[in-house]
Amino acid sequence: MQADTKTIKKSFAKSIDKYSEHAVVQNLTAKILATEIAKIETDFKTVLEIGAGAGVLTEQVREKLCFETFFANDLTEKSEKYVKKILPSSKFFAGDFRRINFRQKFDLIISNAVFQWFDNPEKVFSMCKNLLNPNGILAFTTFDKDNFSELKNITGLTLDYKTADEWKVLLGKDFEIIFDHGFEHVLYFDNPLEILAHLKNTGVNSLSEKPFSVLQVKKLCENYRHAYPDLRLTYKPLVFIVRNTAD
Ligand SMILES: C[S@@+](CC[C@H](N)C(=O)[O-])C[C@H]1O[C@@H](n2cnc3c(N)ncnc32)[C@H](O)[C@@H]1O
Repeated sequence: MQADTKTIKKSFAKSIDKYSEHAVVQNLTAKILATEIAKIETDFKTVLEIGAGAGVLTEQVREKLCFETFFANDLTEKSEKYVKKILPSSKFFAGDFRRINFRQKFDLIISNAVFQWFDNPEKVFSMCKNLLNPNGILAFTTFDKDNFSELKNITGLTLDYKTADEWKVLLGKDFEIIFDHGFEHVLYFDNPLEILAHLKNTGVNSLSEKPFSVLQVKKLCENYRHAYPDLRLTYKPLVFIVRNTAD
C-alpha cells in the first residue's frame, strides 16, 4: 500500500518529538549519507533538504559539509523548529515537496528516509533534476523491497517498497549514479509491544489508516512471538548519490 499524504503528515507530526531518540537506523543512514557525500564533494553553495523532520540528517550535514545557504522542507511545519535549532539561518518551506514552487536552483538536494513515502518517485526525480544546477548532486536514502519483512509476513501491511534495481532504473533515466549501497540492519526487542511502540515513535504507524484494536494488538503480538521468537525487526536501507549530468 501507499499511505496518503494527510495520514503521513499526521503520524510524523505526532512522533516528531520522540523521533531522533528512537530512529536508530535513520540516524545510521544519515551518517552514512553525509559521509559519502563528503567523499565526493564538501563545498556547496545552496543545499535543499526534503523531509527534514526532526533534523537527523540536517545535523550530520552541518558537521560534515560546508554550504552558504540551507533550505529545508517537510510536510509538517513542526519540523521548522528542529531545523532552525541546528541551522538558525536556514530557510524553511512547510508542505508537500511536490507542491512547492521553489524559485532557485540548488547544488545539492538531500533526503533521509523519505522517498519511500512518495507514490510517484519518477515525478520527484524529474522535479529534482529541474531544481539542480548542472552537475548538482541528489543524495538520498530509502528502503529496499524486503524492509520490515516480519511485519509484512504477519500483518500483510507494507509500503510499496521498490527493489534497489528498480530505483536504479528510475534514477538512470535522469542521472549518473555515482554511489549506491544497500545493507541490512536488524533490531531486537524484548517485547512485541516495544516493536509497535518503535514503529509509532518513528512515524511508521501511518502504514495502516486506522489504529489497531486491543484484540488486533494482542493477536499481532502472539503471531510475532510465534513467527520470530527473537523479536527481530529487519531494516533494509538503500543509499544513493547521483549527479545531474548535462542533457
Ligand atoms: C522517516 S522521517 C525522516 C526524517 C528525517 N529526514 C531524518 O533524517 O530522520 C520522514 C519525513 O518525511 C516527511 N515527508 C513525508 N512525505 C513528504 C512530502 N511529500 N513532502 C515533504 N516531506 C515529507 C515526513 O513528514 C517526515 O518528517
